[in-house]
Amino acid sequence: MINIAVLGYGTVGSGVFEVINTNRDIINNNAGEEINIKYVLDLRDFPGDPVEKVLVHDADVILNDPEVRVVVEVMGGVEPAYTFVKKALMAGKSVCTSNKELVAEHGTQLLKTASENGVNFFFEASCGGGIPIIRPLCTSLTADRIEEISGILNGTTNYILTKMETEGWDFDKALKSAQDNGFAERNPEADIEGYDACRKIAILSSLAYGKTIRFEDIYTEGISRITHRDIEYAGKLGCAVKLIASCAYLGEEEGYCAFVAPVMIKKEHPLFPVNGVFNAVFVEGNMLGPAMFYGSGAGKLPTASAVVGDVVEAVRNLGRTLPVAWSDEKLKLSEIGNIVRRFYVRMEGALEERLSAIEKLFGRVNVCRMEDETPDFCFITEAMAEKTFDEAYSKLEGALGRIRVDNLSV
Ligand code: HSE
Repeated sequence: MINIAVLGYGTVGSGVFEVINTNRDIINNNAGEEINIKYVLDLRDFPGDPVEKVLVHDADVILNDPEVRVVVEVMGGVEPAYTFVKKALMAGKSVCTSNKELVAEHGTQLLKTASENGVNFFFEASCGGGIPIIRPLCTSLTADRIEEISGILNGTTNYILTKMETEGWDFDKALKSAQDNGFAERNPEADIEGYDACRKIAILSSLAYGKTIRFEDIYTEGISRITHRDIEYAGKLGCAVKLIASCAYLGEEEGYCAFVAPVMIKKEHPLFPVNGVFNAVFVEGNMLGPAMFYGSGAGKLPTASAVVGDVVEAVRNLGRTLPVAWSDEKLKLSEIGNIVRRFYVRMEGALEERLSAIEKLFGRVNVCRMEDETPDFCFITEAMAEKTFDEAYSKLEGALGRIRVDNLSV
């Protein structure tokens, strides 16, 4: 029998408890051992909940118990999670976490500590919820040079954008519904402003390229400035607006570019059909070509399923550390201003009155108008460096907003 402990009995922690209790025989069979939850740590009490029998309030009970071989960390946040995880690894316990803030901040250090102590630090659930993507990157895609890794990595914002498009809901109603369904972070700003997706693409791209990509270095823009009208225009242009997180090698001149931002993508784009709380990760390898990983990107049971999958892997590998190619060396990223792409701009007023000023600033553009009474229109620029666009945009009168357009689109 292998004893494990779970740090945190929130949405994911209670999901871990449920997954292990529901699929006990399958999980034990896959692990080759009986897995027993010896402790669950939480500051709160849960009267009447079956967790009561194993609930503790003091992390040291777990960290000092040599019978605990695997620790699941699902508390979220950097502290005290970092302190507990580090101590657990140093005490010879493998750790499985869903905590992207922790992995994005301290991933390489914790991998090193795990290796020094002959244990494993696994974090499949930190990116893409239940979608297997970390292990494929570490074990299956190791024969390729990764050209691009891009995805829809935040279930809450994808759910919000989808509901605004399909149900005509306003932003607040869609956010409330995401929160009620347990998809959102405690602080919704982390989802809406792209910080959550930023940490996830920092982790995925570090694994894909084998060097460190710090989340602070990734240009990040959320969805709070996207309006229902922009989504209507996107639909008329045969596009959808998605919060895309991406890191790509763009060639010798442009180098590596990473960003999180809303992007207009066309029907042909592989991420176009990814709706609701679903996430997807698109990977382009120089030998493999394109590959897509798709599934439930958030929520209690999908995320817990990925965590428990890590527990099974940790139990199968007790006594040896699996190598992970993620070095401390920083990958140099190109400025987003150098990236060449097209832009959508929504304008107030009449097209006829503004077109010549627009063409003076941006050159040739494609314009689009709705057949309704609203005094607005939009235009799409030709491909241009973002800093060139920004300069022209700052001089434009009557602009109501702008969105990047994927190079394949419109
Ligand atoms: N708040 C996150 C999301 C949860 O919506 O994707 C999963 O990381």
